[in-house]
Amino acid sequence: MDYSKLEEVISEKEIKEAVKKLAKLIESDYKGKELVTVSVLKGSVIFTADLVREINLPLEMVFMAVSSYGAGTSSTGVVNIRYDIDRPVNNKHVLIIEDIIDTGLTIKHLKEYFACKGANSVKVCALFNKPSRRKTNVDADYCGFSIEDNFVVGYGLDIDNKFRNLKNLCKINN
Ligand code: PRP
Repeated sequence: MDYSKLEEVISEKEIKEAVKKLAKLIESDYKGKELVTVSVLKGSVIFTADLVREINLPLEMVFMAVSSYGAGTSSTGVVNIRYDIDRPVNNKHVLIIEDIIDTGLTIKHLKEYFACKGANSVKVCALFNKPSRRKTNVDADYCGFSIEDNFVVGYGLDIDNKFRNLKNLCKINN
């Protein structure tokens, strides 16, 4: 896989504008509340870094590693927690930050997980969304872009762990 196969789907400028809009919505919704952002490694790292710096609230950041995908391009449907959060979330408002919602299995599992841990509320902010791929009835509370069912990379999304560092979102042409 090399750069010649990449075709831009969403530009860096469009992403920056969407991230700012989402941040302002979140800032207004969570004013005066104890907000904990839960970022799901690795894909959401880049989105998280840009998003939280646009939210002017004293939020707490935690991270998790889960796996639902292997080296291939489709979900196994199995969600494993490989690294758990290092701070309690009971009586706090949890906002899960995801780069993408695909089948929805990861988000469904994590929403239930944090509800069981005593969070006051559990919401989801996803930059990208593939509604046509859903296998369960969950959605993002804050969503940047709904996209078609192409295999996409960039802005956190990878193929075989590469191309996460692209500033835009690209689909892969054969
Ligand atoms: C991707 C993405 C989400 C999940 C969404 O992560 O970052 O966490 O898949 O898919 P789903 O809606 O079908 O559950 P992945 O498992 O590829 O790990 P990564 O973030 O480390 O690339």
